[in-house]
Amino acid sequence: MPAAQIGVTGLAVMGRNLARNFARHGYTVAVHNRSVERMHSLIAEHGDEGEFVACETLEDFVGALARPRTVVVMVKAGGPTDAVIDQLTELLEPGDIVVDAGNALYTDTMRREKTLAARGLHFVGSGVSGGEEGALLGPSIMPGGPAESYATLGPMLEAIAAKAEDGTPCCTHVGPDGAGHFVKMVHNGIEYADMQLIGEAYDLLRQGLGLTPARIADIFAEWNRGDLQSYLIEITAEVLRQTDARTGAALVDVIKDQAGQKGTGRWTVKSALDLGVPVTGIAEATFARAISSQTAQREAARGVLPGATVEFAVADEAAFIEDVRLALYASKVVAYAQGFDQIRAASDEFGWDIALGDMARIWRAGCIIRARFLDRITEAFTRDAGLPTLLVDLYFAAEVAGGVPAWRRVVSQAALTGIPAPAFASSLAYYDSLRAERLPAALIQGQRDFFGAHTYQRIDVEGTFHTEWSGDRTEVEA
Ligand code: 6PG
Repeated sequence: MPAAQIGVTGLAVMGRNLARNFARHGYTVAVHNRSVERMHSLIAEHGDEGEFVACETLEDFVGALARPRTVVVMVKAGGPTDAVIDQLTELLEPGDIVVDAGNALYTDTMRREKTLAARGLHFVGSGVSGGEEGALLGPSIMPGGPAESYATLGPMLEAIAAKAEDGTPCCTHVGPDGAGHFVKMVHNGIEYADMQLIGEAYDLLRQGLGLTPARIADIFAEWNRGDLQSYLIEITAEVLRQTDARTGAALVDVIKDQAGQKGTGRWTVKSALDLGVPVTGIAEATFARAISSQTAQREAARGVLPGATVEFAVADEAAFIEDVRLALYASKVVAYAQGFDQIRAASDEFGWDIALGDMARIWRAGCIIRARFLDRITEAFTRDAGLPTLLVDLYFAAEVAGGVPAWRRVVSQAALTGIPAPAFASSLAYYDSLRAERLPAALIQGQRDFFGAHTYQRIDVEGTFHTEWSGDRTEVEA
């Protein structure tokens, strides 16, 4: 058996599928799992797909690898990842590469890279998106870590990555240290926003127009042929069309309306708060999941808090459906614009030099947020790498402008009739805030100066000022 070019430790479904993907692409793959049964079952079930080296211990695993060794760790984020990395570092040698392909928090990745770098090891925190199927058939891969490691690792990752329609692999070196996991985190944040927006669109058609899930599935399938074409829209149609075998009802009607979350949306929002980047779409989506799971509060409020008195009524059903499509598209552009702002802010803060257009490029296939309009985002950042916000790119500005009247009708109709549409509403408010000539922040500055002498700046004279609020109310230069 030749020395393995790559090793995968952690053979739960994602690790297992990544290992199979490498093997199917002609690499000899050393495989290891803490409980050996899982490793043996992989060999028993899929050993014929390529060259695997079965390793029962970490020592065997490390010994099976060609140098410099490349090890992919695919275990639970947090403590379990630290434990495996600690054991590995005892066995590896300077120049070896450790890839953490789990959904790690980027600050953990930064810490781990420092520790491993001190021992001469290359640590690569890599985002991998596309779920189980993506891992096997081609995920979108977002590796960070030292640029030198990409020379060895890049070709292997690019081989197994999804390929966009133009044939380019959905993988690139994102930037040093935590950059890869940061970008994956924001990808997931955008995923949350996208899913919430789709959920709100569904709710408006369901609760508002009273359409059946099957009919709404047809609408989503139709939308999937246009600008909204994306994996999430496509699977929405599939989910809505599913009938429950037990009851014969639409499956969506028998699933509890409490959304789970593993934490990446929350991480995105926390990081955005630290960076001072308003990711309102992602935040609303994350909070909407939290509200859905607040069963005690919802139980207490149901039937007690009065609803809307305005009945949902539209003169033209088809026109309203088109309005919802336009509102969904505009809100989605806002969510992406905000996500890209956050990536840029982190890149500036940490000196990662992330090429935003390349991020849109590697999200075009394989990942959960893959969508037709990502090509347009790449084009926008190619036209102007320093674009202040995606919303002012000439293509997106025109696209969103075309949908603004519909967006306003949808948000106001939702508010009037009591259908919660937090992500639609906050995205529109963000859009209006950005384009506003004056914001009430001037008043806030006045209030801050009143109670805390926090000072303000004037629109007409340079300098920092304070009004003597408790004295004669004259203005002084601070
Ligand atoms: C992906 C997904 C993947 C996972 C999410 C789900 O890109 O393949 O984002 O990472 O499905 O972690 O997250 P929640 O459980 O928080 O919805």
